Amino acid sequence: MSRTSGDAASARPVTVTACVNGPLIVRGDIDLVDEQGTPLGGQRRTMALCRCGASATRPFCDGSHKSIGFRTEPPARTPAVTLAEPLSAAEAAALVERTDGSDAPVGARSDRPD
Ligand code: FES
Repeated sequence: MSRTSGDAASARPVTVTACVNGPLIVRGDIDLVDEQGTPLGGQRRTMALCRCGASATRPFCDGSHKSIGFRTEPPARTPAVTLAEPLSAAEAAALVERTDGSDAPVGARSDRPD
């Protein structure tokens, strides 16, 4: 299969998957180049890019992330705290920062549309 950069007919979506405690997996038709524009890694459709900094084959992952115990942060949407018990309405309201300048508890009558 041949590949032509910029050819709309051959264009496929590129995906980048951030692996937990590991590399970035890039799938799709992309050109990976260095700062001078020199192609790196040939024309692979799938490549693993190091994000731990320990690879001997940077920018590619060589599996060194495992030996150094590289750990990624959880995604931002993952709660930082897991509650053993649900919060009461008052506790939940106390955690919410008001943006309207009101001191009324969140969910109070003034928060509800008429
Ligand atoms: S992410 Fe695998 S060696 Fe760095």
